[in-house]
Parts: sequence; structure tokens; C-alpha cells
Amino acid sequence: MNEGAHVFITGRRDAELTAAAMEIGRNVTGVQRDEVNGRNRMSEALSPIFVVGGTGRHGTGAYVARQLLRLGLPIRALVRQRDDRARALEESGAKVVVGELRDRRSLIPALEGTAAAYFTYPIAGGIIDAAANFASAARAAGLKRLVVMSMGPANPDNPSHLGRAQWLAEELLEWSGLSCIHLRIAAMFFENLELLHNEDILGDGAIRNSFPDLPMNWISGEDAGKLAIAALRFPERFGDKTAIYPTGSEKFTHSEVAGIIGRHLGRSLRHETISDEAWQTRLMELSEHDGRITLDMARHISAVGASMRKPFPINDLSTR
Ligand SMILES: NC(=O)c1ccc[n+]([C@@H]2O[C@H](COP(=O)([O-])OP(=O)(O)OC[C@H]3O[C@@H](n4cnc5c(N)ncnc54)[C@H](OP(=O)(O)O)[C@@H]3O)[C@@H](O)[C@H]2O)c1
Repeated sequence: MNEGAHVFITGRRDAELTAAAMEIGRNVTGVQRDEVNGRNRMSEALSPIFVVGGTGRHGTGAYVARQLLRLGLPIRALVRQRDDRARALEESGAKVVVGELRDRRSLIPALEGTAAAYFTYPIAGGIIDAAANFASAARAAGLKRLVVMSMGPANPDNPSHLGRAQWLAEELLEWSGLSCIHLRIAAMFFENLELLHNEDILGDGAIRNSFPDLPMNWISGEDAGKLAIAALRFPERFGDKTAIYPTGSEKFTHSEVAGIIGRHLGRSLRHETISDEAWQTRLMELSEHDGRITLDMARHISAVGASMRKPFPINDLSTR
């Protein structure tokens, strides 16, 4: 191993296996194995895990890529261009492939020889196209298992057009015959606070949006990524359900969030509920100088805000 060999050790009990791999240190992968599915597990462990979103800003794909590499598992990361973020991934041990989710031609060679994949897509338009191309390419390339980062509002009747699109994308991926786990995260990402409110927090000290001041679920992109890692490594722990609704472990109202951030900044912050229209207008202003914010995202977030005032059963971020 000191000369660069990579060792795979097998065992039936995960805790003991992980402890043994940690004791050995680097260049080792523990493969949980039993009499029935041992061969499949071993060949899966030898093939790289395909990761979408390794260059992402919310960080689920970036976390998944980093953590799989840390666990000694080979990954193949899809990037759209060879930039500094792609080079950083490569330097940390990932094999990087250039491709585009909406171009099936680029996906087939990229997926070749992989057995499991992590799929994510930003909160933006185009997910149905991306999922259709990915599903078709994955089928052609022989992919077996897929973990999908999704959202609580993924539902055919959701007021958010992106919630409905996410649900349809999930359907397409299911129809491809892949074994899927959809992580419909029923919580807000903490990262949204920086993305959507940074300017106003630093300006006149207000978090303004159309959310009512009710307790809602919060999670970090990194914790959502941890769930994805668990689903990739131990799908059997997720039972028979193809879609699950993780909530994160913390519930705060926006006023409480304003209080917490205010204490860290040493100043007083407040939350103000504004109308859906005013919130959308504000997001569109921000989008003029921040390419991460789009009209689709603005429409989605204000629809989620509206549904919190009149809770829609499936995407109620406060009660699940
Ligand atoms: N924000 C929330 O409150 C919240 C709540 C619940 C669930 N979620 C879920 O979290 C996910 C978003 O977080 P994230 O960390 O995964 O997203 P992210 O940080 O926005 O990253 C998206 C990644 O996808 C890549 N990408 C975008 N379009 C692509 C294309 N056409 N072809 C190839 N790659 C493409 C991006 O590449 P580039 O770097 O080249 O752009 C980026 O690496 C969504 O599934 C959302 O439903 C979010």
C-alpha cells in the first residue's frame, strides 16, 4: 500500500469493517459482503461511483464527491468545463469527465463502467430534459442504482412549477428501470440564507421573504450530502420506499434564524414577511448581479412561501 496499491477488505458487519479500514488508514476500501449478494457488492465496489454536481455551490454533490474519495471509493465526476473547480476535484483523486446532463451523447461514454450514481440538479428550469437524457444514457450504459437529490415539493400537484418538474423527472428516472432512492429533502438549506438574504442582512438588517414566521425545518447542504452517501453505500437501510422525506434535525422560525445570525454578527436583525410579488421582484433584482438566482428559482421559492401560508399536504416544510 505504501507503494500505491489499493486494498479491498470484506466483512459482514459494517461497524467492524469501517473500524478495520480506519485502522489500516489510506488506500483501503471496506466492502460489506454476505453469501447472497457478495459478488454484486464486490463488483460494485470496484467500479467508480458517478457523481453529478461535484462543482456545485449548495454543496451536496461537492460533499458527496469529497467524502466518497475520503472513504477510498473511486469516483467519476461529471463537470461541464475544465475549470479550477474541476482541477481541484481531479487533484483530490476524482476522475473528471466533461459532459452535459442535457446532452445524451456526452453522458453515455461518461457513464460507461459505473454501477451507481448520484444525481442532482440546481433549483432551476431544465430538470425534465436533464433527467430524460440521463435516464436514457444510464440505461444504455448499464447503470444499476441511482440516488437522487430531490425536494419536499416534488409532487404532481404542487403549486411550485419546479416541484412538479422534479416529480416528473423522478418518474422518468424510475421508468428507466434503475433502482432509485429519491431524497425529497423537506427542509430549507441553510445556504439559502447567504444566497438570498446576504445583501439585505448586511444592508438594513432584515431577512425579507414571503414565508410566514412559523417554525420550519432546516438542514445544511452537507447534511443532505451525508444522506446521499448513506443511500449510495447502504441502500438496504432505506427500506422498500423509493422516495423518503428527510427533514434535518432543526426547526426555527425566520425570526429565530434572524436572532441567531444577529448574535453572531453582533447586531440586531429582524424577519419581515412580504408579499409573493414583492419577494419575486426582490429576487429578480438580485439575479441581475448574481447568476445563481434565476426567474425559475424566484417563482419556485415564492410558491413554496405561499404554500406555507396555506399548507399543501406533501410539501409542508413545517410539520413533516
Ligand atoms: N436549497 C434548498 O433549500 C433545498 C431544499 C431541499 C432540497 N434541495 C435540493 O438540493 C439540490 C440542489 O443542491 P445542489 O448542491 O445539488 O446544487 P448546486 O449547488 O446548485 O449544484 C448543481 C450542480 O449541478 C451542475 N449542473 C447544473 N446543470 C447541469 C447540466 N446541465 N449538466 C451538468 N451539470 C449540471 C452544476 O454545475 P456547474 O457548477 O457547472 O454549474 C453544479 O455542479 C436540488 O436537488 C434541490 O431540490 C434544495
